[in-house]
Amino acid sequence: MPKVTYFSGETFPLEMHKVRIIQKLTLLPVEARLAAIEKAGYNTFLLENKDVFLDMLTDSGVNAMSDRQQAAMLIADDAYAGSATYTRLFDKLVEIFGMNYFLPTHQGRAAENILAKSLITPGQVTPMNYHFTTTKAHIVDNGGEVVELTTPEGLSVTGNHPFRGNLDVAALKKLIAGKGKDAVAFVRMEAGTNLIGGQPFSVENLRQVRDVCRQHGILLIMDASLLADNLYFIKIREAGFADASIAEITRAMADCCDIVYFSARKLGFGRGGGICIRDEEMYRRLRGLVPMYEGFLTYGGMSVREMEAIVVGLDETMDEDMINQGPQFIEHIVKTLDGSGVPVVTPAGGLGAHVDAGRFVDHIDQRQYPSASLTAAIYIASGVRGMERGTLSEQRNEDGTEPLADMELVRLAVPRRVFTLSQANYAIDRIRWLHANRRIVGGLKWVEEPKILRFFYGRLEPVGDWHHQLVAAFRREFGESL
Ligand code: F0G
Repeated sequence: MPKVTYFSGETFPLEMHKVRIIQKLTLLPVEARLAAIEKAGYNTFLLENKDVFLDMLTDSGVNAMSDRQQAAMLIADDAYAGSATYTRLFDKLVEIFGMNYFLPTHQGRAAENILAKSLITPGQVTPMNYHFTTTKAHIVDNGGEVVELTTPEGLSVTGNHPFRGNLDVAALKKLIAGKGKDAVAFVRMEAGTNLIGGQPFSVENLRQVRDVCRQHGILLIMDASLLADNLYFIKIREAGFADASIAEITRAMADCCDIVYFSARKLGFGRGGGICIRDEEMYRRLRGLVPMYEGFLTYGGMSVREMEAIVVGLDETMDEDMINQGPQFIEHIVKTLDGSGVPVVTPAGGLGAHVDAGRFVDHIDQRQYPSASLTAAIYIASGVRGMERGTLSEQRNEDGTEPLADMELVRLAVPRRVFTLSQANYAIDRIRWLHANRRIVGGLKWVEEPKILRFFYGRLEPVGDWHHQLVAAFRREFGESL
């Protein structure tokens, strides 16, 4: 049962699992939260986890395991070569994706490294529905170019298009006609498209992309890191799939592709990654890099315990009740915030809720990093750690000018099966309060700006005194409450 209707007539998500292992959390008083974010240079990447109440930075490697996963870890078979654990993982992947070859990697970006090194000739293009940061870095590093063929709905922050992650098929045909098929290294479809708000693509769209790829003999690769959310959305949103099982939808998607790779830090509730391959010749082409960068072909840098957990986690991913909690919580957060006038990205996607800082704090100049300011303010107001997804995450141009981001967002990731609805409601409440007091929030300026990946390590400070005013307003509103 995905959702239940209450006596009041309202519908709420209902967790279809119970908590059997817990981790104690602390919620610091607002003054201590201010001190913690100051110490972290107003950068949530630099906060210590002990100072965080709800960690919504990412869903990567922080999803909750089930009792069955933990039990499976105890029977992991530790062998450098040929472990029974590897065979179990291999068999499970063949069962769900229907591809006969598999290469293990230590995480998702390691799979991207192997694919980009093996498949890209400098000067080639890689069309895709949208890029992910690590994917683009590997493609560019190997002399390739990313071409985004997002549909117009894909890039709008509001609306109700059910499949904003679709690829623009007409644009793909045009690109191939213009450049010729040899200029295309491969086409990449990212399930649950991360950077545009965890938005899915449809099976119909994937099939159209497959037809174009087959017609021209171009490889089609799916990034399945966020597949679980995409599967759920196909089941509830796409015509013709309401009665299909999650396993059947998975197979319908995989059947379109030549290669499926994933980060098991997201898919399968574990930590690791890998590449599933249909064709033996392709497998032989890719496999040489695994022992070189990852580890032997039967572990690829993963611990056997994690591999056992992934086997069970993949099985659980085929169970709608096990994968619906994330998207349903996100929908609850997005709908409640939207209903109270807080600007958010709609429709709700997977991965997390995305607050639209561009509208939330529209009085802050983009050069003073509205998303970063709002991310810091949310932490001060609630102890919730989100992630800046705006201009601060960009890199300066060669001439030192700022490339201003298309979207100024704060990502509040929802790790799978981790939070309860009252925790989600607490986060919603404090964000609503912050929205009512949004004019207090001001911008940030650099104290220490690294040249590359500045969002990871950079340190900032408030412009003016807004941080103290925010704490004072919080105390006036909530008294002694945390
Ligand atoms: N592909 C997608 C769609 C991802 O979201 C990620 C990671 C990767 C590949 C890389 O996998 O981290 O195992 O190397 N996304 C994380 C995030 C980092 O926070 O969204 P990885």
